[in-house]
Amino acid sequence: MIGGGGREHALIRKLKENSSVKTVYCAPGNGGISRDAVCVNIPATDVEGVVAFAKEKKVDLVFVAPDDPLMLGMVDALEKEGIRAFGPRKAAAEIEGSKVFSKNLMKKYGIPTARYEVFDDPKKALEYVKEQDNYPVVIKADGLALGKGVIIAEDFDGAEKAIHSIMEEKIFGASGNRVVIEEFLQGPEVSVLAFTDGKCIRPMVSSMDHKRVFDGDKGPNTGGMGTISPNPYYTDELAKECMEKIFLPTIDALNKEGRTFKGCLYFGLMITKDGPKVIEYNARFGDPETQVVLPRLKTDLLTIVSAVIDERLEEVELEFSPEAAACVVMASGGYPQSYEKGKKIEGLNADGQADGAEIFHAGTKYENGQFYTAGGRVLGVTALGNTLDEALEKAYAAVKKISFEGAHYRNDIGKRKY
Ligand code: AMP
Ligand code: GLY
Repeated sequence: MIGGGGREHALIRKLKENSSVKTVYCAPGNGGISRDAVCVNIPATDVEGVVAFAKEKKVDLVFVAPDDPLMLGMVDALEKEGIRAFGPRKAAAEIEGSKVFSKNLMKKYGIPTARYEVFDDPKKALEYVKEQDNYPVVIKADGLALGKGVIIAEDFDGAEKAIHSIMEEKIFGASGNRVVIEEFLQGPEVSVLAFTDGKCIRPMVSSMDHKRVFDGDKGPNTGGMGTISPNPYYTDELAKECMEKIFLPTIDALNKEGRTFKGCLYFGLMITKDGPKVIEYNARFGDPETQVVLPRLKTDLLTIVSAVIDERLEEVELEFSPEAAACVVMASGGYPQSYEKGKKIEGLNADGQADGAEIFHAGTKYENGQFYTAGGRVLGVTALGNTLDEALEKAYAAVKKISFEGAHYRNDIGKRKY
């Protein structure tokens, strides 16, 4: 397993439900993951290091979970050495790596998304904003930006600042060489993760992320402060419409472009008055969406993963529990801005777990039988229930038993009303 967050912890725990999984190595992993896997000190972005380690240990399968190594071509590099790998090749991962690429793909193949224009010249970008004179306006850096590359400007001044900081100050580096300027959409947001082998696509159950740091969707964006599954706004009818208008056309489009996608494709959707539209694609499992989707998965994950790699996903049906799931993220004081690490975590047992919930470790360290904070997002406290309310109640009950200095979390996960 490549990566070291809550998503990877959830993937490892699910994969281990298959008794043929003997040893899991995780590069680099974290404190909680070390209770379920052997952590190895190789950064997730070290393509050569991972390939060398996989050869040395003769691993049967490498699961590349985060975006950066996918975009660096880690799957291509592993395949070249004859090592089985789960995840899209670099050319397909571009659907997340470049917003310009993904927007142009959607336009070319008629996949519903926000209207937009692309600019590599800040002056022209600004002229366009002035011409449109329609606020809020959404300004996106082309490349990866740690989930912070989207700025929603409320007026011309805000747009000017955004364009200046992305394109001229280069706050996201080369990711800001080009920007997408697009229309502001409104409506419930839905995350749908889907397995695909390039021929068949099998969506998983839906989920909803909570990106803002504070209750009531206030404060800056984070990597995600909590999730629920299913997403109450995603009806069966919408699922059918998305399959026809978005999921299948996306797989087709990538095939036609010679960029067949194999792995988990993440659809970030907005349910607008004019129907569902794509806000973004990710070339991987979402974090913390994975933490609520996988606990509901009843089909053996390794069987699905193998079927994707061998391009026989058609043979595998996905089965999910009808239960609801909720994940509440406990974060370090100050996150998503600067925060301190190394705070002792109370309330976890020796396995890093707690009664009444499953704990996915996002940023922890394990030392002498004790867990310490080691990242912005620290723990994803997850519970299943017969109803969403029951799942939330259980998750929050567990959260209240866990503590560390400065800990903060949202109190309103799963309570959003549109
Ligand atoms: P992204 O990094 O593409 O996921 O964007 C981050 C967040 O910005 C999304 O989850 C949306 O809440 C918001 N966003 C992105 N594009 C739009 C848009 N065209 N209209 C409204 N909100 C948007
Ligand atoms: N939760 C959003 C993401 O994984 O990008």
